[in-house]
Amino acid sequence: VSHLSNARPKVVICRDLGPAMPLLMERTDIEVVLWPEDRGCDRAWLLKNIKGAAGALVLLPDPINEEVLQAAGPDLRVISTMSVGYEHIDLPLMAQRNIRVGYTPDVLTEAVADLCVMLALMAVMTWPKYAWSPFTFCGPQISTMASSPTRTVGFLGFGRIAQSTLTRLVAFGVTHCIYSGSATSAPNPARDAALQAKHKLAALERVDLNRLASESDVLFVLTPGGKDTYHLVDAAFLQKMKPMSVLVNASRGTVVDSDALATALREKWIWGAGLDVVEGEPKINGDHPLVREPKCVMVPHIASATFETRMAMATRAIENLLGGVFGTEMPAELGD
Ligand code: DGY
Repeated sequence: VSHLSNARPKVVICRDLGPAMPLLMERTDIEVVLWPEDRGCDRAWLLKNIKGAAGALVLLPDPINEEVLQAAGPDLRVISTMSVGYEHIDLPLMAQRNIRVGYTPDVLTEAVADLCVMLALMAVMTWPKYAWSPFTFCGPQISTMASSPTRTVGFLGFGRIAQSTLTRLVAFGVTHCIYSGSATSAPNPARDAALQAKHKLAALERVDLNRLASESDVLFVLTPGGKDTYHLVDAAFLQKMKPMSVLVNASRGTVVDSDALATALREKWIWGAGLDVVEGEPKINGDHPLVREPKCVMVPHIASATFETRMAMATRAIENLLGGVFGTEMPAELGD
């Protein structure tokens, strides 16, 4: 028995996965080592417990780098993150050591797109106190009326979540869409033509950052984080935006310069902002310039926080982990 139990590959789980835990705990072919507390996993605990592990299931706040690989030793085969973002994982290092990496795309797309629309709607109506007068507490309307000008919706990053957000906004009467892809992503005219036809849009165009800033009425920041996108939305970008426009960020706080955004709101360069993410999170307190800014609506990085989506993310992260540990298919493997 002891020989068999020693032969079971060890997996380290950095957070209790609630209703998904039986998928791990009911298995007899792995040894599960679970961070026992209901808060982010301590670094020291991870470094101690990952020794000899075949796999680790991690989250966004767990940087996976040389230090972790050193602590783990040669048996480590897979890192599975319960997130679609993976800027906390040193991918070139993983490739160099032949460690497979799993993540959770697709399953959170619809929940995040829902929240993007909610933040856009809230960002146009950010008045802090109740009062009524015919024109005092008004904001720009997102849905189209016969009398309203054409609204242009802009996306910084035009991946799955951006496209799902666009789908929802078509029902609001949006007919013009512009987007900027990353410097490395190739233009995709066939995809764009198909999307334009499907949504009966008058325009769907890939544009540079100048045009994205100056032409968007509602701008969604939905590009990955990391050094390539750091402060893409800075003071110069915000100064080009329309005074009646709103900015929504549901990707990574690091893409938007918080101080510049606070200035933009205070000095009325733009109308409002809706943020799911903010630089420096989760350590944000009442003194943060954006918390103090009444025309900024903030929620605490909850875009994927529906029961359905979190269960799907946890399940996928576990399946990725097991695929990596046992050398079989991983449902969502990076670099595939
Ligand atoms: C992700 O998955 O990367 C989100 O930011 C957290 O759900």
